Amino acid sequence: MANDTLTIKDNRTGKEYEVPIENDTIKAMDLRQIKVNDADFGMMSYDPGFKNTANTKSTITLVDGGNGILRYRGYPIEQLAESSTFLEVAYLILNGELPSKDAYEKWVYDITHHTIVHENIKDLMSAFRYDAHPMGMFISTVAALSTFYSDSGDIFNEEARDLNITRLIAKVPTIAAFSYRHLMGFPYKLPDNNLSYTGNFLSMMFKMAELRYEPNPALERALDVLFILHADHEQNCSTTTMRTIGSSQADPYSALAGAAGALYGPLHGGANEKVLRMLREIGDVKNVPDYVERAKKGEFRLMGFGHRVYKNYDPRAKFIKKVAEDVFEVTGRSPLIDIAVELERIALEDDYFVERKLYPNVDFYSGIIYEAMGFPVSIFPVLFAVPRTVGWLAQWQEMLADKEQPIARPRQVYLGEGERDYVAMDKR
Ligand code: CMC
Repeated sequence: MANDTLTIKDNRTGKEYEVPIENDTIKAMDLRQIKVNDADFGMMSYDPGFKNTANTKSTITLVDGGNGILRYRGYPIEQLAESSTFLEVAYLILNGELPSKDAYEKWVYDITHHTIVHENIKDLMSAFRYDAHPMGMFISTVAALSTFYSDSGDIFNEEARDLNITRLIAKVPTIAAFSYRHLMGFPYKLPDNNLSYTGNFLSMMFKMAELRYEPNPALERALDVLFILHADHEQNCSTTTMRTIGSSQADPYSALAGAAGALYGPLHGGANEKVLRMLREIGDVKNVPDYVERAKKGEFRLMGFGHRVYKNYDPRAKFIKKVAEDVFEVTGRSPLIDIAVELERIALEDDYFVERKLYPNVDFYSGIIYEAMGFPVSIFPVLFAVPRTVGWLAQWQEMLADKEQPIARPRQVYLGEGERDYVAMDKR
């Protein structure tokens, strides 16, 4: 008998089944042959939250949670964060290889020359309430973009698909900045083509009456590094949403709006906002032990702690700690960093956190940096969505090319009532 198979014995019937093992997985559909009798539907696997279900084969990102490793297309995240730029990493994630000099220059040119949005987008955003949450504005406006491009649904036409990918990566910083300007009551600022991707983003965010905004190079680089660290993270909640919506062959704008909606939640990309609010609530280093005790009692979770996949220090969090120091040299030290460092120290020594392998994740320090750079807390999830747009699009593109991917449609275990007859209202 070949070794690369799994033998399953069904003790209800005494029957044995042999199913192939490929890449350390078995196909869930191979379980369907396991039946008690011919009328039986067949065995399914039950996996709420997909904790042990691979939904796709992918060649984009590797997260080795046990060893704290993250690689994009094989390149360690530390090397990319140290030596690359966000747009180079975006090219790598989307195309599989680092670009040649010519390809990189063309890519940067194309992105830079698609940053402007239609004037109607401004009108649309102006219609939001004065205190609308920036992430709500971002999600809705990205969805609305599909109505501006007649080729948005032409997803199997490579040229149209590439153009819409370029448009999305180029325009999300513009929409993100407009959502901030709307919140602040400031006029929207047009993109500046002489600046880098992150330099232009800072300009659209913070430019006031000056003729030209000059981004601080250290802050521009710090934001670029943060964007690299957030660009992709394989099959997380929002990426799975992108793939799920995309599997119905919806246009990328609608799928991306859905993915951003999934990111918004406090257990995912909304955590960075919650971390900052948590650190402010703790207020002082001396209150940290009491706060940790309350988290252990289950009163609340420590935001920015724990991860479904990492059962070791999140490599992004390690790098972000370094970025924080670079930023504080320009902005001055945030008092919240001392609370964060103390919280991390106490939690990492505590049995509760050690036993459950709960370490700081990417969101733990990113919010402190963003705040020091002048971003308001409510825009933090948007700052996650802008770079993650690249990962969502790369995963969506990969899914479209994958002949094994049908429309996403999970099964359920039905435990409701059996058939019963309708009862008229006066008889209930
Ligand atoms: N604080 C206190 N206890 C925690 C925490 C936390 N942050 N996270 C998990 N636990 C406990 C949890 O109560 C459970 O304990 P027990 O076994 O006694 O019931 C155990 O650890 C396992 O938790 P889980 O909910 O089964 O783990 P999960 O893999 O389903 O959840 C998580 C992962 C990220 C949703 C969770 O750790 C969490 O809620 N963290 C706080 C929110 C956060 O920081 N999210 C950002 C994630 S990283 C950014 C990104 O999404 O990409």
